[in-house]
Amino acid sequence: FSYPDTKLQEELKKTAEAIVVPGKGILAVDESNEGIGKLLATVGLENTENNRRKYRQLLFTAHDVLSENISAVILFDETVYQKSDDGTPFMELLKKRNIIPGIKVDKDVVPLYLSEDEVTTQGLDDLAQRCATYKKQGCRFAKWRCPIKIGEHTPSVQAIHDTAQVLARYASISQSQGLVPIVEPDVLLDGNHDIVRAQKVTEVVLAAVYKALNDHHVFLEGTLLKPNMVTPGQACPNRNTPEEIAVATVTALLRGVPAAVPGIAFLSGGQSEEEATINLNAINKVQMKKPWTLTFSYGRALQASVWKIWAGKDVNVKKAQVELIKRAEANGLAALGKYEK
Ligand code: 13P
Repeated sequence: FSYPDTKLQEELKKTAEAIVVPGKGILAVDESNEGIGKLLATVGLENTENNRRKYRQLLFTAHDVLSENISAVILFDETVYQKSDDGTPFMELLKKRNIIPGIKVDKDVVPLYLSEDEVTTQGLDDLAQRCATYKKQGCRFAKWRCPIKIGEHTPSVQAIHDTAQVLARYASISQSQGLVPIVEPDVLLDGNHDIVRAQKVTEVVLAAVYKALNDHHVFLEGTLLKPNMVTPGQACPNRNTPEEIAVATVTALLRGVPAAVPGIAFLSGGQSEEEATINLNAINKVQMKKPWTLTFSYGRALQASVWKIWAGKDVNVKKAQVELIKRAEANGLAALGKYEK
């Protein structure tokens, strides 16, 4: 019987659908301790547990209108156990705001031996136990990222196959423990390739990923996809319009993502805040078949100006929170195709 039991199917499906309810998206704040350390350095703060906690507190104590456009947040391990200044666990703050907590469960990348400078994502060995622990703590979904590089001879067959297998194993383990997997094959922006190349690579990767998910009996209605948008490489001189990006993106998704998947939440991947919002808006406006909800799961594109305004100073917390809400509202509108500059 290659399906989870009915009760588990219902739970996974309900959670996945709640995350991609129209007009809402995901706030990704799952930077590793090393990753957030770099951001703290830009505002002159040391990479201490307390400074990491204070920044995340700023986000989670923003006015509760935040939850009108943010359905879920992706946390890093440490954050699951942290509390606000008044002793309220972050998990409780989120639940009170009706925001679904989830967790980054991959353990980042290592080189893929004898590949063309490509990588594989680690973390499968103890994943079932870790998922069980996070579930007990109140997490309802798990996220795992596999980056794919576009180069002259990449992605290689080796890297595509590895990504598909690793994502499928993670998705299967995650569902076995009652967490909705957010499957993230991230075809990177780096390079001078054009949009046609990006589209083809995205299609090939998606086809491999969904074949592997099927091989591992992953229940698609209880999953979400977190893909890249299809754009030209960052160094490509030929820049496309948001409408062209929308057509290329939806075409690639239509070719590779089964309609059983309830929602697709894009990563921002180095786009500017405004670009990420405008492109999501164009994707939702384009007149094409769209069997899934199309929304955002942004890290950098929801936080870049929050960091600038906060600048590591307590006096700026309120202003930074207002900015977070502004970014969330803009992307909430873009998720409906109703954003106007
Ligand atoms: P960006 O939106 O900054 O790409 O981050 C999303 C994310 O979770 C990457 O894994």
